[in-house]
Amino acid sequence: MVIPQHVAIIMDGNGRWAKKQNKPRSYGHLIGTDNVRNIAIKADELGVKVLTLYAFSTENWKRPKDEIDYLMSLPAVFIDKFLKELMERNIRIETIGDISALPVNTLNVIRRAMEKTGSNDGMVLVLALNYGGRSDIVQAVNEVIKAGNVTSISEQDISENISTRNYPDVDLMIRTSLDYRISNFLLWQLSYSELVFVDCYWPEFDEKRFLAAVEEYSSRQRRFGGLL
Ligand code: IPE
Ligand code: IPE
Ligand code: MG
Repeated sequence: MVIPQHVAIIMDGNGRWAKKQNKPRSYGHLIGTDNVRNIAIKADELGVKVLTLYAFSTENWKRPKDEIDYLMSLPAVFIDKFLKELMERNIRIETIGDISALPVNTLNVIRRAMEKTGSNDGMVLVLALNYGGRSDIVQAVNEVIKAGNVTSISEQDISENISTRNYPDVDLMIRTSLDYRISNFLLWQLSYSELVFVDCYWPEFDEKRFLAAVEEYSSRQRRFGGLL
């Protein structure tokens, strides 16, 4: 099996999953958070190098304040429950997106987790928090402009300044819950990724389904515009 080096996941459907069991949306988010651990461990076991998870988009601020507050409390829940295991597995936590706009408690928890795991050199677990693909590109362009003396900008300039500059290209992008869209996730980075849309909600997306998505990826023929 060909293992994707970089897998990115749109973890969608927590709310609909909760509704299905007559539970509040927050319950779906909580169980969804536990599932991050399961999928991260499976990805690590398979030999994935970078796992990027879409946890909160720049558009998710449109949601009711209660839901946003609850979502912002979840990084702490995740870290409290799983930091020990991440350390044992040598997994490093990083983020993409403008985390400076997060509530200060959330930010502190995340910063501590990044420091704690900072010298782990195994799989990188990238949390996309307050992330938007468009703002990522704009930010990269602004970096290039700031560096000075710019008359034109190349693809290489963007690639070297985009949030994921230190990671390999996204090989496989998975979205759960059968919405067929990118929702402002990694717009620049997905240009030649293989896309897999999964017919279950994120809390139901277990290790077996993850493996099936990787198998699907492995069976695809990637041509990057060329011929084989
Ligand atoms: C994904 O689940 C989590 C976030 C976007 C933060 P949703 O909350 O979008 O769940 P649905 O799509 O409404 O079911
Ligand atoms: C995408 O899901 C964002 C995250 C999973 C964090 P959304 O639920 O926000 O996307 P839309 O609104 O269905 O496009
Ligand atoms: Mg959704």
